[in-house]
Amino acid sequence: MTMKDNLIAPSILSADFARLGEEVDNVLIAGADMVHFDVMDNHYVPNLTIGPLVCEALRKHGVTAPIDVHLMIRPVDRIIPDFAAAGASYITFHPEGSEHVDRTLQLIRDQGCKAGLVFNPATPLTHLQYVMDKVDMVLLMSVNPGFGGQSFLPSALDKLRQVRQLIDESGQDIRLEIDGGVKVDNIGAIHAAGADTFVAGSAIFGAAQAQDPNDYDSVISALREELAGSAH
Ligand code: DX5
Ligand code: ZN
Repeated sequence: MTMKDNLIAPSILSADFARLGEEVDNVLIAGADMVHFDVMDNHYVPNLTIGPLVCEALRKHGVTAPIDVHLMIRPVDRIIPDFAAAGASYITFHPEGSEHVDRTLQLIRDQGCKAGLVFNPATPLTHLQYVMDKVDMVLLMSVNPGFGGQSFLPSALDKLRQVRQLIDESGQDIRLEIDGGVKVDNIGAIHAAGADTFVAGSAIFGAAQAQDPNDYDSVISALREELAGSAH
């Protein structure tokens, strides 16, 4: 099985938004690889968050790490060029949010970004079948989308194993990301099931805010230790 480097992607949904630039700087200094950027529209999901202006503000602030834009919105196509112009690296969307999944994947790549499809806990993987050559990332939700701080749904482990097999069989260069309820005590099992990209919101920002607001080192190191100690 061909595995990629493990990437840790803190979800800024759980950051202190009044100090967002500093929060992002601090998690990157502490060793995070990528910024997970949750976009919610109070329509596709029952919550409302941030848009391209905030992505652009992070770039202007000096963030050079990849920004992983997770669109929980419907429809998706209109806003994709705006996120590309705002500095998004990855743009992922839910198939339920697009009338034409293949077209949306092509649109994201045409805009110079990496494209990904996101699967809710109850969404079947069938949408992947004819577009494996058009995705750079598959994102499996291990909670229902809309909020941080929910518990990991164990059914995601079997689904991870299925997608890992599909990716390996395809021979394509595709990341397998997991999002929702990832913690120090379950990231090893999630890694063993085939994930290589790990979103963690409350585990990272919650843990550090409870202690020292500027110290994310210990939780990111603990996540990395668990990854190093678990095998596929
Ligand atoms: C949920 C979001 C997640 C969320 C994860 O809809 O897509 O990225 O921030 O938060 P935790 O890690 O707290 O489950
Ligand atoms: Zn997310």
